[in-house]
Amino acid sequence: MKEKIITIDGPAASGKEKISKYISKKWKFKHLDSGILYRRLALIFFNEKIDVNNLKKIKEKIKEIKYLSYRKNQKLRSQEISNLSSKIAVYVCVRNLINRLQYDFVKKNKNNQGFVVDGRDIGTVVFKNADLKLYIDVKAEIRAKRRYKQLIDSGEKSIYRKILKEIKLRDNKDKFRKNSPLVIPKDAHIINNDSSFNDTIKQIKPLLDNL
Ligand code: CDP
Repeated sequence: MKEKIITIDGPAASGKEKISKYISKKWKFKHLDSGILYRRLALIFFNEKIDVNNLKKIKEKIKEIKYLSYRKNQKLRSQEISNLSSKIAVYVCVRNLINRLQYDFVKKNKNNQGFVVDGRDIGTVVFKNADLKLYIDVKAEIRAKRRYKQLIDSGEKSIYRKILKEIKLRDNKDKFRKNSPLVIPKDAHIINNDSSFNDTIKQIKPLLDNL
C-alpha cells in the first residue's frame, strides 16, 4: 500500500504543530515540521553572523549544508529566529535546499501509514499530490495571545502587542513573497482553530477516519 501524505499549511502560530502531533500520535503518521528547517538554517546564519540580505553569502553557505537537524530547542522558537527564518524563506536557493531535505526525510523514514507535514507551501508546492490537505485558519489576535503565553511559559520576556505586530509582519512576508507564498491550496479543507482544541479535532477527525 502506498504511504499517505497529509499536508497542514497555515500562518504563523496557527497551531499547525499541535494538530500535526495529534494526528501523528492518533493515526500513526510520521510528523515532519518543515518550519524547523527554516529555523535551523536561520540559526546557522545568526550564529555565523551571515547577513541575511547578502544573497551571495547565503548561496555560498548553502552549498556546504548537507543536513539540518529536526531537533527542537528554545532558541529556535525565539522571536529573533522566527523573524530571521521568514526573511530567508523568500530565497529560492533556501527553499530548494529545504524541499530536498524534506524529500530525503520521507525517503529515509519509511513508515507504514505515511507522513503528516506542516508548513506554508506543503500542499501547494512540496507535496502537491497529497492524500489530504488541511489549511489552518485562526485570527491574528488569537494567534498572538497563544504565542505570547507560549513564550512567557518558556521563560522568554514578551510583550503581547509586539508579538501581534511581529506575527502580522511575518504573515505579510509569507503571503506576499514571490516564491511559494502562503496560500490556501485549492483542494484543501479549511480548519478553523479559533476556538478550543476539541472543536478543531471535531473538524479533523472525520477527514482522517475517511482516508
Ligand atoms: O511555528 P510558526 O508557524 O510560527 O513558524 P514555523 O512553521 O516554524 O516557520 C517559521 C518560518 O519559516 C515561517 O514564518 C515561514 O517564513 C518559513 N516557512 C516557510 O516559508 N515554508 C514552510 N514550509 C515552513 C516555514
